[in-house]
Amino acid sequence: MKKIEAIIKPFKLEEVKDALGEIGIEGMTVSEVKGFGRQKGHTEIYRGSEYTVDFLPKIKVELVIVDEKLEEAITTIVKAAKTGKIGDGKVFVSNIEEAVRIRTEEKGSSAV
Ligand SMILES: Nc1ncnc2c1ncn2[C@@H]1O[C@H](COP(=O)(O)OP(=O)(O)OP(=O)(O)O)[C@@H](O)[C@H]1O
Ligand SMILES: [Mg+2]
Repeated sequence: MKKIEAIIKPFKLEEVKDALGEIGIEGMTVSEVKGFGRQKGHTEIYRGSEYTVDFLPKIKVELVIVDEKLEEAITTIVKAAKTGKIGDGKVFVSNIEEAVRIRTEEKGSSAV
């Protein structure tokens, strides 16, 4: 199993959610977060100050999926979240060792 953490622009959430629904993703967790990337929250250097950092609101979408779904899920998120402008966000992938569906006590890939 893999976990995708996608940091996206807040106004793209519905589009990303719908696109993931269309490829059969059945669960996700969403949080309101703040962050910055290479521009440090600025689109240009402000008064020559290179070190000022402004956190910008972003949405973090987390989904745990079986390995076979990984590439399709990444492609779907990127396509739905992309505007082509700075700040579109990032997708991070990590390994997940275990998952448990609490109600049924199913484990592993049948729990996601
Ligand atoms: N290396 C990182 N680690 C953790 N979070 C990050 C990282 N880079 C970006 N983020 C998160 O993603 C958000 C969007 O990043 P952003 O798309 O601006 O990255 P970027 O590298 O500056 O790319 P771009 O040049 O397209 O803007 C940030 O506000 C932050 O929340
Ligand atoms: Mg950026």
